[in-house]
Amino acid sequence: MRRCSVIVKVLRYRHSDMLDLERQLKSIPENAGKLIVTDGVFSMRGDICKLPEICALAEKYGARVMVDDAHGFGVLGPGGRGTAAHFGLTDKVDITMLTFSKSLASIGGCMLTSHRVADWLRHVSRPFIFSASITPCSAATALEALHQLILDPKRPERLMNIAKYFQKQLLANGVKIIEAPTPIVPIFTYKTLDTLYFGKKMFEEGVYVNPVIAPACVEGECLLRTTLMATHTEPIIDEAVEIIARVLREGAPAM
Ligand SMILES: Cc1ncc(COP(=O)(O)O)c(C=O)c1O
Repeated sequence: MRRCSVIVKVLRYRHSDMLDLERQLKSIPENAGKLIVTDGVFSMRGDICKLPEICALAEKYGARVMVDDAHGFGVLGPGGRGTAAHFGLTDKVDITMLTFSKSLASIGGCMLTSHRVADWLRHVSRPFIFSASITPCSAATALEALHQLILDPKRPERLMNIAKYFQKQLLANGVKIIEAPTPIVPIFTYKTLDTLYFGKKMFEEGVYVNPVIAPACVEGECLLRTTLMATHTEPIIDEAVEIIARVLREGAPAM
């Protein structure tokens, strides 16, 4: 009988550093199975992974590719089909993991892969085997959101346009951001207590942002993660930018 469990060694490569990824791949015995895992869109800074380079390295070193497209699905590519579609590399990605908790407005998730890998996961994936499945209403919500995306494939384009407008307005109002090619726009606030204060103050004024503090980011590089929706309009964005810029300008009390 074939053994189902496998022992894997995890090697980390530096963020989007293709030289480091290649260094790691070189260090693995040629005949060992290899899987390169990457986010499609990185959740904190909204940058997109270097999928063309990753796929080229996978081919060179006989590795498979897995993309966690939690933040790419519904956002990038034609009709929001995700990061691999954005690069025209759908055929080169072996496993795509999606969560339903972002653009599909629900909870749960899925993996897009071959029947063989899916069958294997059904039998060996501990979180899959030992967790209750999602509720029918969560599945129905995700399906309906997917249906809406299929009915209105221009939604991702509108999302990108409003994200660009948001970034332009933030910069025009003196807010320090890293310009992102996606609707995740980080605003740097650096210190933990300042970040929590700004997040709370903005929420009280009507703008919901995610304060990101260690260990979700490096200590001293705290930020407010802002995310956009396709249904946001320019007047809503103008109002939000006014609040964000004012709260930051007023500063946090000394703590
Ligand atoms: C990159 C990435 N992958 C996966 C997830 C998992 O999402 P959830 O646990 O909501 O399904 C998240 C959540 O924020 C994420 O940022």
